[in-house]
Amino acid sequence: MDTLINKDTDAALKFLNDGKLVAVPTETVYGLAADYRNEKAIQRIFRVKKRPAYDPLILHASDIQMIEGDLVKEIPGLAKELAEAFWPGPLTLILPKKENVSDLITSGLPTVGVRIPGHPLLLELIKKLDRALAAPSANPFGYISPTSAEHVEAQLGGKIPMILDGGPASVGLESTILAIEGSKIKILRRGIIEEEQLKAFSGQIITSDISSSRPEAPGMLDKHYSPRKNLFFADEIAVEKINAQNSGGISFSEYLEGIPHENQIILSPEKSLEIAARRLYAALREMDQSRFRQIVTEKFPETGLGLAINDRLKRAVTRK
Ligand code: TXA
Ligand code: MG
Repeated sequence: MDTLINKDTDAALKFLNDGKLVAVPTETVYGLAADYRNEKAIQRIFRVKKRPAYDPLILHASDIQMIEGDLVKEIPGLAKELAEAFWPGPLTLILPKKENVSDLITSGLPTVGVRIPGHPLLLELIKKLDRALAAPSANPFGYISPTSAEHVEAQLGGKIPMILDGGPASVGLESTILAIEGSKIKILRRGIIEEEQLKAFSGQIITSDISSSRPEAPGMLDKHYSPRKNLFFADEIAVEKINAQNSGGISFSEYLEGIPHENQIILSPEKSLEIAARRLYAALREMDQSRFRQIVTEKFPETGLGLAINDRLKRAVTRK
């Protein structure tokens, strides 16, 4: 199958109405989208991604009316405040689902993840379709999420008819996922919307079971976001024991010790966590395709967005 890559939302609309999959840009990472009402198309998402059926999909809407009308039973007050503050944007809320959201989407859960993405091309497409789009990240299950149309093409080219090209993702990490429990906010996945920002909305932020090895439901599996090559934290291996000439490095703002400088990518010499987050997945992919035998990285500062970056890296590293 040929894979078209362009900005033509009418062409994308036609594929979606025909039950086909279209990779779509969002501000976080690219998604692999289907019309949420088409069960065959939903099943196709799981097949193309090789995603296990127990890992639910999130839904993307163009406005709150679409979410309230079609997708969820209710949006509690606290969720509504968060929605008003952060949508369109990199926030996913877990809410009680309406009947017309298929169990295939939620893996049988009574809740569904919803968000209004902050990308104009995708919003235009959802408005034209006039229905929500189910879309997980557009990578094979367990691999690094794509932050550009080229990344999607490298893995799903030939398997889907179209990639809607919205340019490189501005955030570069998947959305922050929150569940609301009464007056408490539970962070199920960290992202660019940080714990600190959430404190304005609730006195109780629960983070304890992020990174659980027994995921509550979300695909917060320990091993995820991984390159094919072995990836190590510099402080967890003896750098002298691996062949430094054969190792690629990815660091925050300064060169890693013991690895030739020309083998390394520094994500943000200016020490910006936002810039580092935006570039991280492209760097991991570049190293995965390089001549290097393994990749060495480091833990980022344990504050703000650094926590979200470390969360992804901890799941991506090789455990022996
Ligand atoms: O930024 C994003 O969220 C991107 C873009 C494309 O929107 N999407 C994304 O989807 O990262 P995905 O499927 O790769 O990750 C969504 C996560 C999965 O780990 C899934 O297990 C979890 O959300 N999830 C989905 N529905 C859930 C639910 N009802 N309860 C708890 N977790 C849920
Ligand atoms: Mg994913």
